[in-house]
Amino acid sequence: MKRQKPYWLALIAIMMIAMMAGCGNSGNNGAGNTEAPPATGTANEDNTPDASAKKIVVGFAQIGQESGWRDAETASIKETFTNDPQFELKFSDAQQKQENQIKAIRTFIAQKVDVIGLAPVVESGWETVLKEAKDAGIPVFLLDRGITKGNEDLYTSFIGSDFILEGENAAKWMIDEFGADATVNIVQLEGTVGASAANDRKKGFEDGIKDKPGYKIVYSQTGDFTRAKGKEVMEAYLKKDKNIQVVYAHNDDMALGAIQAIEEAGLKPGTDIKIIGVDGIKAAFEAIKEGKMNVTVECNPLLGPQLKQAILDLKAGKELEKWIKSEEDVYFGQKAIDALPNRKY
Ligand code: AHR
Repeated sequence: MKRQKPYWLALIAIMMIAMMAGCGNSGNNGAGNTEAPPATGTANEDNTPDASAKKIVVGFAQIGQESGWRDAETASIKETFTNDPQFELKFSDAQQKQENQIKAIRTFIAQKVDVIGLAPVVESGWETVLKEAKDAGIPVFLLDRGITKGNEDLYTSFIGSDFILEGENAAKWMIDEFGADATVNIVQLEGTVGASAANDRKKGFEDGIKDKPGYKIVYSQTGDFTRAKGKEVMEAYLKKDKNIQVVYAHNDDMALGAIQAIEEAGLKPGTDIKIIGVDGIKAAFEAIKEGKMNVTVECNPLLGPQLKQAILDLKAGKELEKWIKSEEDVYFGQKAIDALPNRKY
């Protein structure tokens, strides 16, 4: 007759199985692999999410409130994740400081959020903290701005625009406007020092004019993506030199600041000096309609829905693109005027 196993052996086996099931969420589902955030419960019969199910907690480390574009991006994230009962959003505003963004990420890790979203204020200096998120098994999505190349294993996907292309499109508009052989003096208002949006828009634009010897950047200075600094930099430059034909600003807010400075200096923006901006905010479309600005190269800030879709795809075990690109256009003249009534931000 076989001896029966003691009941405690069976009990240990059951406990081990239960512990293994409980560990399902502690595997490395961080950047660089495609393991999904934890399951969030069931859907109702009509397929709408069950509000009582466990929510996907998203921590978002935002840069600040430097521009109309940034406000639109923040609104898109807040609307997307607070209007959907599957999610809970933890939002942090770093007031332009990388150290505050790093602190926010560490807080999200301590809170054991399911996903982290980061709009990195500058490109460099993220390795340590993103490694901490990876070690904690939390997937990180970069939104809008990128980080230094070579760190692709530290995040799941980058969602945003091609900033180099935006710079190239700005240069293309200008060369179409003035002609390839024209002599054109340009003031460039750069974005935040070290930001991918500033580095790449500068590169794209400068590449776009490099074989056009008549096009000269006579001054290039940061305006930190704000209207106030765009105005300040332009005011200072116009006191020394008014022989410029173009202002190329890395965002619309700085372009709008420059417009004020040009008017105060007794010149006509849009006519005496052509104004090129990037972003496509409503105020830029209004300035184009008034004839004070010439062109805005669009950069889409409404990234909340794309982030949400990426998180759901990750959860469903789908393969994600490393770069989820936004769709964009270039607006000038009548095309901008026609588009104005439908601009949301
Ligand atoms: O990173 C995107 C840039 O950041 C936008 O062009 C600018 O307006 C913002 O502040």
